[in-house]
Amino acid sequence: MAAAATQVSPTAQVSQFLNRPKKLLIGGKWVEAVSGKTFATLNPATEETLAEVAEGDAADIDKAVKSARMAFEDGPWRRLTPSERGKLIWKLADLVEKNLDEFATLESLDNGKPRLIAAVADVPLAVDLFRYMAGWATKIEGNTIPISVPYAPGSRYFAYTLREPVGVVGQIIPWNFPLLMAAWKLGPALACGCTVVLKPAEQTPLSALRLGELICEAGFPDGVVNIVTGYGETAGAALAAHSQVDKVAFTGSTEVGKLILKAAAGNLKKVSLELGGKSPNIVCADADLEVAIPGAANAVFFNHGQCCCAGSRLYVEKQVFDKVVEGVSEHAKRIKLGSGLDPSTEMGPLVSSEQLERVTGYLESGLSQGAKPVVGGKRVGSKGYFVEPTVLVDVKPDMKVVREEIFGPVVVAMPVSDMNEVQTAANDTSYGLAAGIWTNDIAKAHSLAAQLRAGTVWINCYNVFDAALPFGGYKESGWGREMGHEVLELYTETKAVCVKL
Ligand code: NAI
Ligand code: MG
Repeated sequence: MAAAATQVSPTAQVSQFLNRPKKLLIGGKWVEAVSGKTFATLNPATEETLAEVAEGDAADIDKAVKSARMAFEDGPWRRLTPSERGKLIWKLADLVEKNLDEFATLESLDNGKPRLIAAVADVPLAVDLFRYMAGWATKIEGNTIPISVPYAPGSRYFAYTLREPVGVVGQIIPWNFPLLMAAWKLGPALACGCTVVLKPAEQTPLSALRLGELICEAGFPDGVVNIVTGYGETAGAALAAHSQVDKVAFTGSTEVGKLILKAAAGNLKKVSLELGGKSPNIVCADADLEVAIPGAANAVFFNHGQCCCAGSRLYVEKQVFDKVVEGVSEHAKRIKLGSGLDPSTEMGPLVSSEQLERVTGYLESGLSQGAKPVVGGKRVGSKGYFVEPTVLVDVKPDMKVVREEIFGPVVVAMPVSDMNEVQTAANDTSYGLAAGIWTNDIAKAHSLAAQLRAGTVWINCYNVFDAALPFGGYKESGWGREMGHEVLELYTETKAVCVKL
């Protein structure tokens, strides 16, 4: 059968991709870095090189920004109708879905996460996000506004607003959900009619490059999406500072978020930031513990704790503290670590040697200050960046493991006496990304949700994401909201037009 003969098994498809040269996508063409340099991207389970990737820096960012600028100012992109824009984004969603297996394998190889998880979470969420944003392309509307103009009695005006694309957008993304973060950024920018320079994380450039191939295949005009792989300190910094970029959107550490803000000051480009977190997860004594215990384990161990919204501070009412800690620790003990490609693996390695050092450094700091691991507490093996899922007790509010984002499979568990205490403790952080509440008391759930200073509050669930649900942070967790209709604010300017009648 002809169809069967042309079918490529996912593995062959992945190795074909890995064998193709990994260049930069600029102005619709795949090009080498100006410097000719490349860098290696590793498989964190084996520490072996997966591929060499073009190392873009300031010179390549400049080329990419110019091509995005040209595509924005007078390319065919500007002349497309909203419906045509929406169709292109939808087509991209179809192409990603068609290549789901390949994307899941690439995410697993490059990031370390289980392939099966990427296949049910990362990739379908990216597809759904593109489809959701494709729908918005035709629904970005202004208002007609009745105005009074008190100093011009008797005059009549017709006034309305237009929502226009903000322009050329620089997007800098992290490595924890490489494809999904590319989708969160590209989907709304394209729906709004912007053009983009995307800088993937140096640890995980592969899925963005594959996505770039599909962007070309879908038929986006040249220069609408440019992809420059490279390091943060060079390529990323140049993008944040470039004077021809109208807006920069960043997801990553709070520390780098502050650098982006400074770099953006040169031309006062618009800035949106999705940064770190140290999210409280609160288990009340009246909760259904059969649900809350696995829920609390999933809240912190999902994606190896490499989630900005990880439920990493577990507050438990003291009557049920021991039971919850024991239950979460039992879960932690049963998690099977291994290579992401092994179908039995439940948790892969951390993404890089830097993350391994950072996470084990936090563990050492916690233990030296008197925290006790009920389970876990150290690295596993000597090859690959594996860390034991860890539950720490006997922690104090001023310890680094309680205050700082660990970004690994480590939860600190603390007993609390009542709801007033938990509310104060939960908000005692410089972050404000997410929070969880487990209780069967509806009034308690909603009043606590209102008291928590966090961009997302999950009640009797955790890590529930949807393209329609806005996500972002209070306090040092960031500026702006991604997803939902709220994200359209980040990628549009409002123009007021006033006509004298
Ligand atoms: P990072 O913030 O350094 O990297 C994120 C992105 O920013 C990458 O694309 C990187 O190349 C780029 N970047 C780095 N320095 C830059 C600069 N000076 N100018 C412009 N772009 C720059 O995060 P890193 O070092 O990979 O991880 C450190 C910590 O950050 C983690 O342990 C975790 O706590 C936090 N983090 C939070 C994430 C989130 O989802 N909010 C994602 C990744 C990391
Ligand atoms: Mg960094």
